[in-house]
Amino acid sequence: MSRLLESKRLKVVSDPLSSDLDISCVLNSFQGQAFLFEKVINSSLRVAGNLYGNVGNLKIGLGLSDEDDITKFTMSALNSPSPSKGQVSICKKETWEIDAPADLSKLPILTHYDREAGKYLTAGMVAVKYPGSEEENLSFHRMLVLSRNKLAARIVPRHLDQVAKEAKGHKVPLVIVIGPPPAVFLSASLQTTYGLSEYRIANKMMNEKLDLVSSASSGICYPKDSEIVLEGYLDYEEKTPEGPFVDLTGTYDDTREQPVVTIEEMHYNSDSIYQGVLAGSLEHSFFMGLPQEIKIRDALSKTIPHVRGVNLTPAGNGYFHCVASIQKGNDGDGKTAILNCFSASHPLKLVVVVDSDVDPFNLSEVEWALATRFQADRGVVQINGAKGSSLDPSSGKSGVTAKLGLDATLPIKTDVSKFEKAAITAGERAQYVIRSLRKQIT
Ligand SMILES: Cc1cc2nc3c(=O)[nH]c(=O)nc-3n(C[C@H](O)[C@H](O)[C@H](O)COP(=O)(O)O)c2cc1C
Repeated sequence: MSRLLESKRLKVVSDPLSSDLDISCVLNSFQGQAFLFEKVINSSLRVAGNLYGNVGNLKIGLGLSDEDDITKFTMSALNSPSPSKGQVSICKKETWEIDAPADLSKLPILTHYDREAGKYLTAGMVAVKYPGSEEENLSFHRMLVLSRNKLAARIVPRHLDQVAKEAKGHKVPLVIVIGPPPAVFLSASLQTTYGLSEYRIANKMMNEKLDLVSSASSGICYPKDSEIVLEGYLDYEEKTPEGPFVDLTGTYDDTREQPVVTIEEMHYNSDSIYQGVLAGSLEHSFFMGLPQEIKIRDALSKTIPHVRGVNLTPAGNGYFHCVASIQKGNDGDGKTAILNCFSASHPLKLVVVVDSDVDPFNLSEVEWALATRFQADRGVVQINGAKGSSLDPSSGKSGVTAKLGLDATLPIKTDVSKFEKAAITAGERAQYVIRSLRKQIT
């Protein structure tokens, strides 16, 4: 967070605001703008939100330039993680106060939406040890505050769920990190191989400069440069209703029986900043979408000669709709690309494939390609009854969904002169006038 504070890209709000709806209302009104709320009613801690809602902020946090491609940067670290998870020290951050027994009411945990069940930790990064290993698994889990030291965690069946099941009824020690360094935040949102610590990916992103602290009680490592650390355990034997909560789509997710997390110790100091992610925001879509984009790019690159780009569209929550721009080598490549996308990323419901002269990030160009190159009688792929996402309210409780692929690519031997966007060569005089007009017409 320090790089962002220094970069002055955080808008500082000094008016007192409540952690109950006020702050989330401001975050929702200015998505993409990072905020630091200095005065939070009934709390001595500050709150940050929408921190990485603008990808430029994440680049600054990662020490990248504006021109750097964040997906390629992430893929490179994911494909060659560091041999080390970071420099581990065993002492605790000396300047931190330790609250034991824990009292979550001391933290400015936000209430985000009108009808949610209560206060929710939304940017709590959970670290647990893989069974019989010194490697930590990292993942984010929303957590409903139940009492001063209890939370209900939403755990979708992935690695944390597997770790908890392998514990066969025993409590799983965990550390919840709020406000880790950006590379750790990004790495924790990625879907990796079971057994591999996301710290190794973060350490690679940080040029081997990740400093970790090993918990005195559990040995679980957390980044030294974190804002708040909660220590406790997850108990799969203790379940409670979790929800309603607004998720990625901006709609209320179902209430389910979910496991309880008990917090035993809290580490922070008066300078600590509580970080919240507004569910359904651009920031949330970005971190949920990036791992899917990586999987899709990877799958496409194995079968398609050239992939210009993949866009998980913001209005599709960065999760459900995808545009892939490709250069075909065979006539079937448009349809193959559709199948690749669906098999790489199960939440996808709509895939549009366009030729490489169409910019997948320019949705007007994409619609133009559909208008001029697509025919429904030969370009549609429909798959019924496939695995979707439980986050889609139209998919029903089982998450089964229908999928639609639109192949807007031209057959390989097409005379492209009929389909190309007509050009107007800009002579020197026209270029000069256009330049000066651009200055006048904003
Ligand atoms: C802001 C944010 C909130 C998330 N909330 C949840 C959640 O409540 N439950 C869950 O199971 N996954 C949630 N996820 C997704 C997982 O954290 C993510 O898929 C992670 O990579 C899973 O890690 P794993 O591959 O080690 O299992 C969230 C992700 C982000 C970025």
